[in-house]
Amino acid sequence: MSRMIINGGVPLSGSVTVQGAKNSVLPIMAAAVLTGGKTVIHNCPRISDVECSLRILDHLGCVARWEGDGVYIDTGTMTGSTIPDDLMGDLRSSVIFMGAVLARTGRVRFSPPGGCEIGPRPIDLHLEAMKRLGASAVSDKGSIICRADRLHGAVIELRFPSVGATENAMIAAAGCCELTVIKNAAAEPEISDLAEYLRKAGASVTGDGTGTIEIRGGRFEKSVVHEIIPDRIVTATYLAATAATGGHVRVEGTRPDHLGAVLEALSRMGCEVETGNGTIVLDAGRGLVSPGVVVTGPYPRFPTDAQPLLMAACLKARGETVFEETVFENRFRHVPEMIRMGADISVKGHRAAVRGVNTLRGAEVSAGELRGCAALIAAALSADGESTVGGIKYLDRGYDGLCRGLRALGADIRRID
Ligand code: UD1
Repeated sequence: MSRMIINGGVPLSGSVTVQGAKNSVLPIMAAAVLTGGKTVIHNCPRISDVECSLRILDHLGCVARWEGDGVYIDTGTMTGSTIPDDLMGDLRSSVIFMGAVLARTGRVRFSPPGGCEIGPRPIDLHLEAMKRLGASAVSDKGSIICRADRLHGAVIELRFPSVGATENAMIAAAGCCELTVIKNAAAEPEISDLAEYLRKAGASVTGDGTGTIEIRGGRFEKSVVHEIIPDRIVTATYLAATAATGGHVRVEGTRPDHLGAVLEALSRMGCEVETGNGTIVLDAGRGLVSPGVVVTGPYPRFPTDAQPLLMAACLKARGETVFEETVFENRFRHVPEMIRMGADISVKGHRAAVRGVNTLRGAEVSAGELRGCAALIAAALSADGESTVGGIKYLDRGYDGLCRGLRALGADIRRID
């Protein structure tokens, strides 16, 4: 089993460039299905979730392959409408293909994603949106089949601004020529990236980045070229690791405007944060204090994906930090592992209280999910002595060369496969 061996205690320093956003590229790969033409996606991270999306496209009869710094997709040859169970299981966000395949073929069959590492991941909001657009959904031998002879425009009001449900609704709505209005929509930067792709493809999309998105489909372009936005959670990972080690790092190729709540929390901790055009410089050399209470929430609030990462940076910060997780039910799986390193953390329901300690010690720990794995690596970098971090298969889902990036910043880290 793959693991990272880390000798902690070295403050990170230098500069690092951030990869393209995982959470942008996956829905855009699904949306490519809609166009029936060619899509070239640049700045695409080499991660296993993208590999899995390529396999889904291949299974549907599309041409889909890595090319240069990105992927090439031609959905003109698509024949299928079933997403196989093993691929649904490998990639939780494969549910994002639902709206695209339904809008393109009038039918989609898939198995519902089960409970996952960070809590149950229901798809009721996704299905509700498809129904509003005129689709039916039935269960059949453990699978869900959605059908629609013709999708129509609708007003879709989401109970919660779910990122995935907003994306599914946007993609399906772009498949019909009447107006669709999505209310209480998610406003994450990845939603705007998808909107930008759909606009380039020929749809009319307005209001992305706000709670109300209006979409009308059109004639699709036969060829779309799109560059993925920088990954804000990977940026947060480098920043958190720098803070945890008391380092001084310049992150390049990023979007500081996508990281408001994260940068604000790091500033409250006593980090000096300087932002420029595509750059963030973080200096944590003056010691850290607790940022107080950190409450996760939909964008632009503090991202749930950055919660384990900021927690890693708070383990040695003076005072008590309280994390309140409001998005997912089971997002403290990294806590027992951090405690093995000597962290002082208590969890009650969806709140975790971290009391800063003077030192952490290297330990053998194992991650149970993607961001938790990156957080354990950040914690290990700030611990004295050697740590072994297991569960690296989760890291591979979302990070393209994190070990290489950290080594370039002076970290003593190596991967064993
Ligand atoms: C996306 C991101 C993930 C991030 C999350 C929240 C991708 C590939 N993943 O996940 O990294 O942590 O947004 O920012 O983009 N919910 C329902 N019913 C539904 C759908 C969701 O109750 O039909 C609930 C979920 O259980 C969860 C909350 O809504 O409690 C947020 O989920 P959602 O925004 O949908 O997250 P994802 O799109 O799965």
